[in-house]
Amino acid sequence: MDANENPFGDLNRYPDPYHKELKASVSKLKGIPVDNIFLGNGSDEVIDLCLRIFCNPGIDKALTFSPSYGMYEVSAAVNDVGIIKVPLNKSFQINLKKVKAVMKDDKLKVIFICSPNNPTANCMNPRDVEFIIRNFKGIILIDEAYIDFSGMPSFSNIIEQYSNLIVMQTFSKSLGLAAVRVGMAFSNPEIIHYFYKMKQPYNISTINQKTALKRLAAINSYREQVKIILVERKRLSENLKKLSIIETVFPSDSNFLLVKVRDADLIYNTLINNKIIIRNRSKIIKNCLRITVGTRTENNKLIRELKRISI
Ligand SMILES: Cc1ncc(COP(=O)(O)O)c(C=O)c1O
Repeated sequence: MDANENPFGDLNRYPDPYHKELKASVSKLKGIPVDNIFLGNGSDEVIDLCLRIFCNPGIDKALTFSPSYGMYEVSAAVNDVGIIKVPLNKSFQINLKKVKAVMKDDKLKVIFICSPNNPTANCMNPRDVEFIIRNFKGIILIDEAYIDFSGMPSFSNIIEQYSNLIVMQTFSKSLGLAAVRVGMAFSNPEIIHYFYKMKQPYNISTINQKTALKRLAAINSYREQVKIILVERKRLSENLKKLSIIETVFPSDSNFLLVKVRDADLIYNTLINNKIIIRNRSKIIKNCLRITVGTRTENNKLIRELKRISI
């Protein structure tokens, strides 16, 4: 009788603000203690909170590599945090020389590292990431939204070794719950405490917490889905490579493919007219398209349409 709720019904109580049951389940799955886990309304909330906790609006800055996930820049703008964009090299890897030059800026408080990176699909070289973690005095947020498609170990294994490291994962990709909006952040208990202090009290609804819990209880079926997506990624990639309109299919550690074509706008618009929506990334990487790996049927439909355009 403490929260002025309606006493009737089964959704009448406010959600658990500390996500205890769901955190216990995530802890078991990831082998990470509950005190090292924060759950957000999608990882987009984790990005926003990170900027709000560690940056003074109008004064401090954050660093994102380019091209990378657009939300870091959007969230920085919303929070009046300046953004430094450091271009990735030709292999879409971190250019350490360029990072070293800006790391000294004492207004730089947060570095976002997306690995595997969206939209380039590749993992960052772990040695470069570790160099940044060891040498940067501010916060490093490693976004591992696509880690389960990569076969690479998570940086969450080393969160206790560094006081400035946050690793972020999500229920939206390999766990198939983008509609549910649950993101995970792993860090030391002090940083986790700040996240819980700063968030809205009821950031994840009871329905969403329960849905995420149910998903984790059926973890084996999600593992099967990941296997199917990986098989389809390989098949889709091989088929795309055979098409004359495709110049390059970049290697992927994610559930999507980045492809370079001769005329991205033409292909994108032709596919739209055939009710297939992919992502046109040519404004940030010339003539590149990003294609999410779909079901076998969806992928076949895409290949069919692209073959028609190739003729
Ligand atoms: C790299 C990356 N991080 C985070 C997200 C968003 O995750 P969430 O659905 O948990 O907010 C996306 C979504 O596309 C993404 O590509």
